[in-house]
This record gives sequence, structure tokens and C-alpha cells, in this order.
Amino acid sequence: MSGRKFCVGGNWKMNGDQKSIAEICKVLSDAQLDPNTDVVIGCPAIYLMFARNLLPCSIGVAGQNAYKVAKGAFTGEISPAMLKDVGADWVILGHSERRAIFKESDELIAEKAEHALAEGLKVIACIGETLEEREAGRTNEVVARQMCAYAKKIRDWTNVVVAYEPVWAIGTGKTATPDQAQEVHAFLRQWLTENISKEVSNTLRIQYGGSVTAANAKELAKKPDIDGFLVGGASLKPEFVDIVNARK
Ligand code: PGA
Repeated sequence: MSGRKFCVGGNWKMNGDQKSIAEICKVLSDAQLDPNTDVVIGCPAIYLMFARNLLPCSIGVAGQNAYKVAKGAFTGEISPAMLKDVGADWVILGHSERRAIFKESDELIAEKAEHALAEGLKVIACIGETLEEREAGRTNEVVARQMCAYAKKIRDWTNVVVAYEPVWAIGTGKTATPDQAQEVHAFLRQWLTENISKEVSNTLRIQYGGSVTAANAKELAKKPDIDGFLVGGASLKPEFVDIVNARK
């Protein structure tokens, strides 16, 4: 065992309303969750305070995005300071949907991560290749480029969790096999050793994301370099409890 604490994030994306969120929070509150696993719920910003008040304090709450400065004339944006003010302790940054749909660049995402960390939030820093990139044999190159951008802005990795999410596996039902995921996680570990430090390589948690379900979580969780999951669709369902408990 690596000594890294397992960490499972739920990413609700732009889903839920007060009624359904109250139901999911009840399921999570009543469940027996593995105490050796960190659990974080990425909630739509407008419901963060609502979810925070319903969840036990052992479960962290995350924004799904935040801007790179504390305040100002940025219509429609929210800041890490605001996330903290309503009880969030984490933020998910660089999700592939932010990259692809909202055209966020590696640089902007890294600046957001730098500012969120400076404000005291923990960051789930997402990376991952598209199907086209994978088929062209460019997976390692792409994730290395994304990691490089983060590394230019992040000095202290203590409050960072990296989420490796192959874009072709997100929301498609096409999970990476445990071996495919492990291969990239091992490459990332190697990259960290060569470009950051052995210490960070040993301690930084790397989640896998992309069509994780209760059915495949246990096998994925056995891989030595997979330290948790970032879960989309299945995080809205009771099976999320089984995913959290994949190592139990
Ligand atoms: P999925 O989403 O589990 O629905 O594939 C994962 C994610 O986008 O984080």
C-alpha cells in the first residue's frame, strides 16, 4: 500500500435541485463511509451552502470552478473566497468540460489553481487526453503538457489532488481498463519524480475519473497508483457509497 489516503470526489456537474440534492445528502449522511477515505462533493455553486448544511462535516464540499482573482468586475464568475465563505473547502479545476466547452486554456486553469491554493482551498486538478490524442499515441505528451502548466504555478502540492480523466471515458460508459488507467498513473508518478520531486511523486494523490461505477471501482482501486476517483454520473446515485467504499 502506498500510504496515500484514498480520496473520492463526486462531481454533480450541472445537475440537481433542492429536492434531489436533499435526497442524495440523506443517502450520504446515513451511509457507513470508509473512514480511511476522503470524500468530496462537487456541487453546483448555487447549492453549495444548502448541501454543506445537509452533509456531515466528514464530507468535504467543492466548487466546480472558480476564477483566478478574489473579486471584481467579472460578471458571472465566483471566487475561491466566495466558495470558502459558503463552506466549501475544495474546488475542482480544469475539468475537460471546462476545457472543451468553455475554452479554458492550460495557463488559465493553472492560474486558477494558484489563486485557489493561495486562498486556502484544496484543489482537484483535472487532466486527460481526448480519444483522438490517445489514438495518435499522444496520451503521455498531453498529460505531461497539462501537468507542466500546473507545475509552473503550483509551488506546494500538499493541498492538490490530480484527477486523471481520459476525455473519451467521461460520461460515455467506456471506462479505461484498470491497466490502461494504471499505465497513465504510473507515467504521471514518473513525471512527478523527474519534474517536481520524489517526495511529491510519493505523496500526491492521483484519482481516476471516467465512467466509474460501483461495478468497476473495486478493480480500479486495486491498482497501486490509483488513489481514488472523480465520479460524475454515478455520484448522483446511491451506488456512490459503494464507490467511496471501494477499498473497504
Ligand atoms: P462520469 O464523469 O463519471 O460521468 O464519466 C466523470 C467526470 O466528469 O468527472
